[in-house]
Amino acid sequence: MTAYPYEVHDYDVVVVGAGGAGLRATLGMAEQGLRTACVTKVFPTRSHTVAAQGGIAASLANMGPDNWQWHMYDTVKGSDWLGDTDAMEYLAREAPKAVYELDHYGVPFSRTEEGKIYQRPFGGHTTEFGEGPPVQRTCAAADRTGHAILHTLYGQSLKNNAEFFIEYFAIDLIITDGRCTGVVAWKLDDGTIHVFNAKMTVLATGGYGRAYFSATSAHTCTGDGGGMVARAGLPLQDMEFVQFHPTGIYGSGCLITEGARGEGGYLTNANGERFMERYAPHYKDLAPRDYVSRCMTMEIREGRGVGAQGDHIHLHLNHLPKETLELRLPGISESARIFAGVDLTKEPIPVLPTVHYNMGGIPTNYWGEVLNPTADNPDAVFPGLMAVGEAGCASVHGANRLGSNSLIDLVVFGRAAAIRAGQIVDPKERNVPVNTTEVDRALSRFDGLRHANGAIPTADLRLEMQKTMQSDAAVFRTEKTLGEGEVKMTAIAGKMGDLKVTDRSLVWNSDLMETLELTNLMANALATIYGAHARTESRGAHAHEDFPQRDDVNWRKHSLAWVDGAQVKLGYRAVHTDPLTPEAEGGISLKKIAPAERKF
Ligand code: FUM
Repeated sequence: MTAYPYEVHDYDVVVVGAGGAGLRATLGMAEQGLRTACVTKVFPTRSHTVAAQGGIAASLANMGPDNWQWHMYDTVKGSDWLGDTDAMEYLAREAPKAVYELDHYGVPFSRTEEGKIYQRPFGGHTTEFGEGPPVQRTCAAADRTGHAILHTLYGQSLKNNAEFFIEYFAIDLIITDGRCTGVVAWKLDDGTIHVFNAKMTVLATGGYGRAYFSATSAHTCTGDGGGMVARAGLPLQDMEFVQFHPTGIYGSGCLITEGARGEGGYLTNANGERFMERYAPHYKDLAPRDYVSRCMTMEIREGRGVGAQGDHIHLHLNHLPKETLELRLPGISESARIFAGVDLTKEPIPVLPTVHYNMGGIPTNYWGEVLNPTADNPDAVFPGLMAVGEAGCASVHGANRLGSNSLIDLVVFGRAAAIRAGQIVDPKERNVPVNTTEVDRALSRFDGLRHANGAIPTADLRLEMQKTMQSDAAVFRTEKTLGEGEVKMTAIAGKMGDLKVTDRSLVWNSDLMETLELTNLMANALATIYGAHARTESRGAHAHEDFPQRDDVNWRKHSLAWVDGAQVKLGYRAVHTDPLTPEAEGGISLKKIAPAERKF
């Protein structure tokens, strides 16, 4: 029996995480009368969604012709044909509804002259199934769209009586007879332990960008949901696909939105050349991110990088009208000044591809239900557990996500999870009794880490992991870097038993919290490097120099990784290739979305 007393909270639903997906799920659950708790390690409006700048994709057609089929096609092509077709259709079709709901909830979107929601161009979003000009599909609240969405959803959740447990760290899932029955959490400000006993647990814990040394992600992006799922014996999916955003500020990694190029910004090399015109004559600077990041890296490698070391690229906005910068891009004007010392009305911003997003995550169907694939049923649902947002993998982004498809993913699938929970969670049913054995198991792991007395400080091992991932699972990968990376990461994970935690208290113990986070990061990082080493092709963000072609015969399949300590077992599951709506009923034609050469 554990030495830690704990308080039990009974709910219909517990949502872990209060970013865009967590809040949209929380709001949707609460609106349907489900007793909903949202457990979050940071104050909701400080979640990483607050950093999302450029906007949210939806084919509103406010600025020119558009429709959900074009949006879906761009998402399929953007994913390099690894996304699940049903999920991609659901995203594109539901997006306008989800954005108008946000509008009605009160999100202060920027407006056109006629008062419609303002939309800007973003990379890879086009018309006429990729044959037409770029489309203005990305709905924006200046360059603070995530900030606006978070504040609105938090207010609406409170209005609908969702209950928030703020600055609680989720330690582990509780699994009872093959289903999830809640989560064990540590309250950071007073050290007490809490058990959330629920019929449905929703993981909305965000990505794991901090497995890398340089990332646009907040320091809180530590893949906590993925870590908990791995410890519950469930797999992670497509973890080798890590997105590098083309325009992180050189040095700090702080994001400069793709909206900057959407508003007319462009990249140049040391010769002042707008090199993207050479690589992507049709899409130019607004090609999908994986492609732009690779082109920038090639320019630098071939000696055309800018700066004293020739190791970055310039982003120009100095030619744009002052009113565009003030009205549409006020946030990045400030970021450029603070983080690069640049007045972007006069000088270019130094930028470099920077880790930004994890396409992979906890496998789910398009209702957000977590999958536990078996040989007989690759789409088997694990009861009582959902995952949404960057923590999940529906899989709508496949091998590469289009810019502004992230915010729409958060709200469409947060909303879908709530709709599904409304169908399968019965508020009248009693919760199962707390599984004390599982709670004890979680707390004994917690206690072991709290008293860890080895030789390696958490920060040192974390840095070793981050540097290894940065150099060995980078924009371009080779058999050598991935092979060496796999060996190094296995050794690094093997040192987890030798960690030293110096603070043994339970109140505001950041040493212990960072150690718990490291256990989560490590599982995600291992799945990433093992998945990448095994995938002998190039697809989307996985650019393997020894296997430069996409191989649809052998590799159009999702990777699965079961991580147990420092051990990783890989498996695969089929990509869903059937749309939800048949062509005869207005759906997209199968011919249109068949794998093809990805030209820009
Ligand atoms: O560039 C950006 O504003 C980021 C958007 C996104 O990742 O979707």
